[in-house]
Amino acid sequence: MSFPKGFFWGGALAANQVEGAWKEGGKGPSVADVATYKPKTDVKDYAAHMAVNDELIAAAMADPDDTYYPKRRGIDFYHHYKEDLALFAEMGFTMLRVSIAWTRIFPTGEETEPNEAGLQFYSDLFAEMHRLGIEPLVTLSHYEMPLALAVKYNGWYDRRVIDCFTRFCHACFERYKNDVKYWLTFNEVDSIIRHPFTTAGVIPSRFPEEKLLEVCYQALHHQLVASALVVKDCHEIIPGSKVGCMLTKLTTYARTCNPDDELATQAKNLENLFYADVHVWGEYPRLILKMFERKGICLHTEPGDDAILKAGCVDFVSCSYYMTMTESVDPNAERTPGNTVLGVKNPYLPASDWGWQIDPKGLRYSLIELYDRYRKPLMVVENGIGAKDTVEPDGSIHDPYRVDYFRQHISEMGKAIDEGVEMWGYTSWAPIDLISASTNQMSKRYGFIYVDQDDMGNGTLARSRKDSFYWYKKVIASNGEDLD
Ligand code: BG6
Repeated sequence: MSFPKGFFWGGALAANQVEGAWKEGGKGPSVADVATYKPKTDVKDYAAHMAVNDELIAAAMADPDDTYYPKRRGIDFYHHYKEDLALFAEMGFTMLRVSIAWTRIFPTGEETEPNEAGLQFYSDLFAEMHRLGIEPLVTLSHYEMPLALAVKYNGWYDRRVIDCFTRFCHACFERYKNDVKYWLTFNEVDSIIRHPFTTAGVIPSRFPEEKLLEVCYQALHHQLVASALVVKDCHEIIPGSKVGCMLTKLTTYARTCNPDDELATQAKNLENLFYADVHVWGEYPRLILKMFERKGICLHTEPGDDAILKAGCVDFVSCSYYMTMTESVDPNAERTPGNTVLGVKNPYLPASDWGWQIDPKGLRYSLIELYDRYRKPLMVVENGIGAKDTVEPDGSIHDPYRVDYFRQHISEMGKAIDEGVEMWGYTSWAPIDLISASTNQMSKRYGFIYVDQDDMGNGTLARSRKDSFYWYKKVIASNGEDLD
């Protein structure tokens, strides 16, 4: 297998799922800080888990008890980051993907000057990463915009948020120009349709149901314009920097070779890819503009937008990859959930306890598709399996299911490289247990490192190495050769 020399190996985190310390260092509340743990709701019911409205936000902000808001505590990475980075370094990481919490730098999003304590936290974090030989890959927006902008402006639906975001990014580029070379603008930019509040601060109940799709695409347009402005700004401030887009790679197969299934599948895949199309090509695909027309979606754009999109094309394409699904026109086809989507079940694939269908070959398929379409270097910046782990009486944690998942996916990624796909790196999700994005659970564990904390926040926060920790260390040491 041919992982290129210098291929980045590591893991990925998001500030809102790990940092905690939601009120420290001058941080303002973000949309993640009102995300609620709902123990009685089925883990496959994403709509219920991610439901939000003004009353729920007000109630969450007035609640003096943080127990049911796990992202406020994360895994206390804010205070444990040195210990965690040391463990990542022990595994041999050469890259760590982190995100910068916007609300640490601009607590409400509207300040004119950045918050020094917030900036300093990330300066210290990056300094420690460099000391350990770990290259930072930094996401500028990972499900954590200022709550104030969501409440006051309807989030990204309002064009004024573009200025707030570009100001935040500019401050980051100025401060970290000597620390960070690799950047991502929006995490899973396509997710706006699935959970508009988490991704874009849009509170769905404020809009008539039949208008919501248009509202989401309008907010997306503002994000795409902002992303292009930020790419340009980054290139100007940090010569040699590389900025990528980040897509949830939701590959869909036709459930049967019935041409109607194939057409429905093609439409799904085109919809998934178009977010990256705009980032790479600097323009909306004609087929998507036609789709907007057919659906009666009318976007407000400004005269300079086309030029902005063209001037801010990304240097590389990145994606998360967890699962695939199928599509069928048969209304009775059995459905299964996965990463906040509901798709038709694939009888050839096993699934995780959360219903996500496990498809290592789908990763190879997806990488080949992305590379053939964009001809840009790729990075897989999230890939992993959420599972329940058991701590043995002697403290060990045996997680062969996790090793199997990674072994098969890394092997398929190697095959994609052998077939000619250009790849820069792989950051697993997540190297350490953290709060799940969709269900706010701690017990949905992704890490090679176990964190002693339960769903309600009880525990010592002690970190311990699972079996998979030693396995991944070997993989990295052999540059992907030794997957046994
Ligand atoms: C991705 C997100 O969609 O999936 C991460 O970028 C998230 O933030 C990951 O944690 C896994 O999803 P979940 O809901 O299991 O945490």
